Amino acid sequence: STNATQSVSPVIGVIGGSGLYDIAGLENKEWRKVETPWGAPSDELLFGTLDGVRCVFLPRHGRGHPLPPSRLNYRANVAAMKIAGVTDIISLSAVGSLREDLPPGHFVIVDQFIDRSFAREKSFFDTGCVAHVSVADPVCPRIGDVAQAKLAELGVPHTRGGTYLVMEGPQFSTRAESELYRSWGCAVIGMTNMPEAKLAREAEICYATVAMVTDYDCWHDGHDSVTVDAVVKVMHDNADHARALVKAMIPELGKARGLCPAGCDRALEHALITAPSH
Ligand code: ADE
Repeated sequence: STNATQSVSPVIGVIGGSGLYDIAGLENKEWRKVETPWGAPSDELLFGTLDGVRCVFLPRHGRGHPLPPSRLNYRANVAAMKIAGVTDIISLSAVGSLREDLPPGHFVIVDQFIDRSFAREKSFFDTGCVAHVSVADPVCPRIGDVAQAKLAELGVPHTRGGTYLVMEGPQFSTRAESELYRSWGCAVIGMTNMPEAKLAREAEICYATVAMVTDYDCWHDGHDSVTVDAVVKVMHDNADHARALVKAMIPELGKARGLCPAGCDRALEHALITAPSH
C-alpha cells in the first residue's frame, strides 16, 4: 500500500554483463537455483551479504555457457530477482558508443532507452490480466544518483544521462543503422537492457543501467584500427571498475529507506489493470 512512512530493508540485485561474474567482497556466498513461473533464469543466483546488506547476483549470460542476447529468458531473470526479494537492481552492460565524447572505458548512467529488440518476451502481463505500466522514465534516479557519486569518488570517467539503443543482434549494426541511431540522439548501443528494464518496472523493482563503453561501433572512422589486445584491455579495465563500483554502491543503496521517491516500487498502482477473466 502507499504509505509514506513505510520502511524498506533493501535487497540489492546485480545483473552482470560479460566480464562480471561475482560481487567483490561478498560474504556468506551461496549459489542457489531459483525456479520461476516463466522458466529458468540464465544461471543460479549468488546470494550473500556485503557490509550486512543482502545481495543477489545474476550473471546475465550464465557462467561458462554463454547465452546470446536473443536466447536469454528476460522474464525468468527478473522474476527470479523478485522471488529472491530484490528491491533494487544495478544492471551492468557492455555497450558500443554512438558519440565522440563517450570513448572506450567511459561509463554512462543511462536515463532513456529506445527498444528495437523484437524476438523476445517483453511482459509478465500476457495472459489473464492486462497492465500498461509507464516506462516514460524507465530508470530509478535514486540508483543513478548513487552510481554517479561513486563513479566520481572512484575517478572513473562517466556521464549522467544518455539514451541506450537496444538492438536484437547478435550481429552488430550496419553503418547505416549506426548513423540512424546517432541521428536519433542515442548515446550507446547494446543488446540486452530491454526488455530487462520494462520487466523490472512491471515487477515494481527499482532499476538502473550502468553502461560500460567497449568500442565506437562502426560509425567512427577517425580512430586507430581496433586491435584485439586493445579491446581485451578495455573490457578488463571496465570489469575492474564495475566491481569497484558495485562494492561502493551496495552499502549506500542498502541503507533502510522509505518507498522510492520516483514510485518505481508502486508502478502497478498507476497501471490499467483488468480483472482476471473467469
Ligand atoms: N556491445 C558492445 N559493443 C556493442 C556494439 N557496438 N553494438 C551492440 N552491442 C554492443
